[in-house]
Amino acid sequence: MTDQSSNQMWGGRFAAGPDAIMEAINASIGFDKRMAAQDIAGSRAHAAMLAATGVITDNDAEAIREGLLTVLSEIEGGTFQFSTTLEDIHMNVEARLKEIIGEPAGRLHTGRSRNDQVATDFKLWVRDQLDAAESGLLALIRALLSQAEAGADWVMPGFTHLQTAQPVTWGHHMMAYVEMFGRDLSRVRDARARMNESPLGAAALAGTSFPIDREMTAKALGFDRPAANSLDAVSDRDFALEFLSTASISAVHLSRFAEELVIWSSAQFRFVTLSDRFSTGSSIMPQKKNPDAAELIRAKVGRIFGANTALMMVMKGLPLAYSKDMQEDKEQVFDAADNWMLALAAMEGMVKDMSANRESLAAAAGSGFSTATDLADWLVRVLKVPFRDAHHITGTLVAMAEKRGCDLPDLTLEDMQGVHAGITEDIFSVLGVENSVNSRMSYGGTAPAQVRAQVARWKEVLAG
Ligand code: ARG
Repeated sequence: MTDQSSNQMWGGRFAAGPDAIMEAINASIGFDKRMAAQDIAGSRAHAAMLAATGVITDNDAEAIREGLLTVLSEIEGGTFQFSTTLEDIHMNVEARLKEIIGEPAGRLHTGRSRNDQVATDFKLWVRDQLDAAESGLLALIRALLSQAEAGADWVMPGFTHLQTAQPVTWGHHMMAYVEMFGRDLSRVRDARARMNESPLGAAALAGTSFPIDREMTAKALGFDRPAANSLDAVSDRDFALEFLSTASISAVHLSRFAEELVIWSSAQFRFVTLSDRFSTGSSIMPQKKNPDAAELIRAKVGRIFGANTALMMVMKGLPLAYSKDMQEDKEQVFDAADNWMLALAAMEGMVKDMSANRESLAAAAGSGFSTATDLADWLVRVLKVPFRDAHHITGTLVAMAEKRGCDLPDLTLEDMQGVHAGITEDIFSVLGVENSVNSRMSYGGTAPAQVRAQVARWKEVLAG
């Protein structure tokens, strides 16, 4: 006699049910219920294939199909009773199916195992998230392109070491992020193409003796092909790791941009004004408008990369094939996915709403001797002074301006000629910030014409 409380899926071998602690550590239903739709899609494909190959009857397959649709509607309608005793989403669905259709439900699990089932469900879930990430990235890129187009010729300081370096254009700065999120997009697409092989039919680890058709289930579930090695198919979580590493790199990009927005929106910079819709106030300091959305986006990289690290550690010592350790994959991926999508959407909203303060940007662009390189380049180009000497002459002029508390264009021609006799009035033509950016016409440079060309190229990429 088996104990009443022993498991209905494997109770045959067991005399007693699990300890409460065992149930608590073992159950995944609390989180893997998020894969219910994927689990039912996988089971429908499997049942249809079992009928097509003559492993089960058409009548049984039809009963299973209808029963699964009922289960799905119960889950979607919120009436489904999830049970921890039934451990995970796979057994919850199958047990309910049995209640609804009776005996044919017991034939669904022919020629498959929870090992290939969970790998299939999870892949389908991750694939949906890669598609969502693609949409989120595209929307963010479009928002950045609008900013770049509007401000293709707005001058601002370009920084290295967060010290004023050379003037750049607002559009150029926005387009730098378009390149970064564009690489994220290409990583997402690569990951999707690489992961799109079906584990279903790998069974527990060795394949099955039933005459199943793995091509058929792969096709039904939108996979390009069945995975070629059953051991690998059930033990592979590369798709989850690649999702997390792609998300981590993207989160780094989001975080860097968020950091710039935090700095730029401060009273000391005033480069941008963030909209009220993406800011909060202070309960005690009435003047404050805080860039909370940007700060939270900046922080999200912590948990996303944490998830990446966690799953790497879970996987690193596992022998082939399936080990229960792998159940720890889902919460990491779920949390990272939720937060990546949220961060992408929040960043898109902020970029759409923010306004660049053109005057502040221009005023800052001219400060900090930002056209010193242009002065040195003029000496080289016009007077044929070797660059190292030109660098030295310019340094002397910068020191002179600094001492007087003025900027380079405020020095007189006599001042300049005192340092190098050959300097002419023409030098003032390169000292303006506008002249400086307009002259940076090298491919990928900051000149407005280059920025507009890059915006046009990206629009073509997105349209094609
Ligand atoms: N809940 C399990 C997981 O998430 C399903 C697979 C269980 N397979 C097994 N042999 N115990 O990994």
